[in-house]
Amino acid sequence: MHKSRSHTPLDVLKDKSALALKESIKNIDSYTHVRGESLYVDDVNVREGTYYSVVFDSPKAHGRIINIDYSKAEKLGGVARIFTYKDIPGENQIGGIIPDEPLFAEGEVHFWGQPIALIVASSEFIARQARRLIQIEIEELPVITTAKEAKEKGKFINAPRSFILGNTEKAFKDCDYIFEGETFSNGQEQLYIEAQGAYAEPLENGSIKITSSTQGPTAVQKTAARVLGFPMHKIEVDVTRLGGGFGGKEDQATPWAVMAALATYHLNQSVKLILNRHDDLRMTGKRHPYESSYKIGLSKDLKILAYEAEFLQNSGAAADLSPAIAERTLFHATNSYFVPNVKSTVISCKTNLPPNTAFRGFGGPQGMFVIESAIANAAANIGVSPSKIQEANLLGENDEFSYGQIATGVEAKNSWKAVKSIYNLEQIEREVEDFNNSHSDFKKGLALMPICFGISFTNTPMNHARALVHIYQDGSVGISTAAVEMGQGVNTKMLQIAAQLFSIAHHKVKIETTNTTRVANTSPSAASSTADLNGKALLKACKALLERLKAVASEALNTAIETIEIKDEIVYANGKASDLSWNTLIGTAMLKRVALTENAHYATPVIRFDKSKEKGHPFAYHVYGTAIITTTVDCTRGTYVFDAIKIVHDYGKSMSKGIDLGQVEGALVQGVGWMTMEEIAYGEDGRLLSNALSTYKVPDMFSIAKTIDVVPLETTGSDMAILKSKAVGEPPLMYGIGAYFAIQNAIKAFNPNYKLKFHAPMTPEKVLMSLYSR
Ligand code: MOS
Repeated sequence: MHKSRSHTPLDVLKDKSALALKESIKNIDSYTHVRGESLYVDDVNVREGTYYSVVFDSPKAHGRIINIDYSKAEKLGGVARIFTYKDIPGENQIGGIIPDEPLFAEGEVHFWGQPIALIVASSEFIARQARRLIQIEIEELPVITTAKEAKEKGKFINAPRSFILGNTEKAFKDCDYIFEGETFSNGQEQLYIEAQGAYAEPLENGSIKITSSTQGPTAVQKTAARVLGFPMHKIEVDVTRLGGGFGGKEDQATPWAVMAALATYHLNQSVKLILNRHDDLRMTGKRHPYESSYKIGLSKDLKILAYEAEFLQNSGAAADLSPAIAERTLFHATNSYFVPNVKSTVISCKTNLPPNTAFRGFGGPQGMFVIESAIANAAANIGVSPSKIQEANLLGENDEFSYGQIATGVEAKNSWKAVKSIYNLEQIEREVEDFNNSHSDFKKGLALMPICFGISFTNTPMNHARALVHIYQDGSVGISTAAVEMGQGVNTKMLQIAAQLFSIAHHKVKIETTNTTRVANTSPSAASSTADLNGKALLKACKALLERLKAVASEALNTAIETIEIKDEIVYANGKASDLSWNTLIGTAMLKRVALTENAHYATPVIRFDKSKEKGHPFAYHVYGTAIITTTVDCTRGTYVFDAIKIVHDYGKSMSKGIDLGQVEGALVQGVGWMTMEEIAYGEDGRLLSNALSTYKVPDMFSIAKTIDVVPLETTGSDMAILKSKAVGEPPLMYGIGAYFAIQNAIKAFNPNYKLKFHAPMTPEKVLMSLYSR
């Protein structure tokens, strides 16, 4: 994918601060990944007699269940039992934020793919055969698939919310330009390579251990306890790693784990439930489609004076994480711009789709697409380049966000300036123009995309984590945190923190599985905050251990504790190497009966948010950056390629250069996919039509940029970020929004009559129609 990768004097990674890396570290999972030895849920050692299971789900999007005949399925040889809501000893309820979602449907079904029963058999093959023998009779009810229709019919998840800054009504009176419009952004399938799954096994005295592919082990534990009517201590959840999550396993890994646990509870035997791709696509929720409308007002000098937006979120049939996702839409409604008068409202609309859920960006991208659409529309009508409006309104130091937080450490203008100068924007613009003047069958388009993303769970109480560190008596170290490794490289970052702080070799440190009995009451690995929260807790634990070890060394070497240092596994006193090595120091500590285990807790300071006023300081800090995206559209076919995506990204002081670059590239490609080729389609009957990888296209090596360049912006980082290395998981996804507008500009170059569309994704079919529209 990368023909070139720029390294410039701005490269912050040459930093020589105490904790900076001596050498760059590879993702610690790369060795087992490449050899196919990494373990996932489906790789657990199953015990003798383990059962396999398949979910029986609704074949209609909305209706009353008249009758279900399980008798033929039950009689099939090898079928152990079929479980329904009647077999639930606790509550038939899995809704985390709002209790509106049963584990198994009772009298009614609300989406196509809603779980009704779990078929447990001696093999998955038999369970699948049995599923075909179940006969269900449903009295169909009206199906709603769009947010607008839900709004018209008064179907909502919860009450709408609004963020207000200044007074838009008054401000619009002073505007020289006012534009209104509507936008649509479609859903997006998370498409983790490892489908949803879990393995439950019975332990002693009725306890159950669940191995789950979840971003939220505590959510699985809590919900399993709720459904089984258990205290939480009887459920242990363990996660080695996920084959991708992207938000799709923040909340929606839970039902499968709970179903497996329910069957284990009844059968006192291990039960495995791994969805195949077809079942996974049909039964799980996706990024929320949004239907939105806006009104934007500008002055003559292109300052945005007022902005109003109404976001209709297609939440699906139950709340899931929709209210939290809706909230983040409001937080990011003005992207990286300062707008003095804002009124944004989000309405979570209840439809008959699978409950839509978290997906990288968590509602932020949907909000940002709308203001970028508003700017593009305003620019087209005024007759200026959208980048003029973008540039004129970039956020500055001490500007106020609509939610009351005062922006500090702002890098919006810096990253914008940097991207223009480093990549020579004027030259790129000239090249695009020259190309368009000399080509009639192909046209190029260009767009800039600045981003600003807030880091922290917007729900303040979730911003905490713990770490448990053991130093074993041979000097090796074992670390447990709440961080779930899902390919993002968080385990590598955790390892680096301990190895750097103790100044010991990487191979001396092991990152343990994420397990609820070692680290309890955790927030999910989400919101880009996993490395910050868990890393800070880990740093705290390691620092406490280091102090304890220094005291041991000070006694052994008969010198003041302040003079002790550990460097490369050697104890130094007064700057001189002693004959105490790390290993002998640990041995000495052991003999002196010093605790070599530490548990630490970290809760993000400063942040707060008052939901009654919709004001506060919800984010620890923000991440910034700007991308330049150029595309070439084939005007005969409507296909497009991205020539180059050039980014200046604010990593702070990146602690893991390779991992962070991978996160930027991966997120970017996912963002481009969402905006361009990934098209979720439901029939009017609520059936998922894009139900396989033959009908749902994600970007591949050939469909994304020939060149992706990422230059780190030299910034001081933030003390709220782990080792000043800023969160990187979600923010770069939103660079992908620029891809949509680059294509629009190419179409415009071909077809001067073209009226800009704000209806994503911009698939080749839509491009072709647009090229020849009048
Ligand atoms: Mo992530 S979308 O916050 O699980």
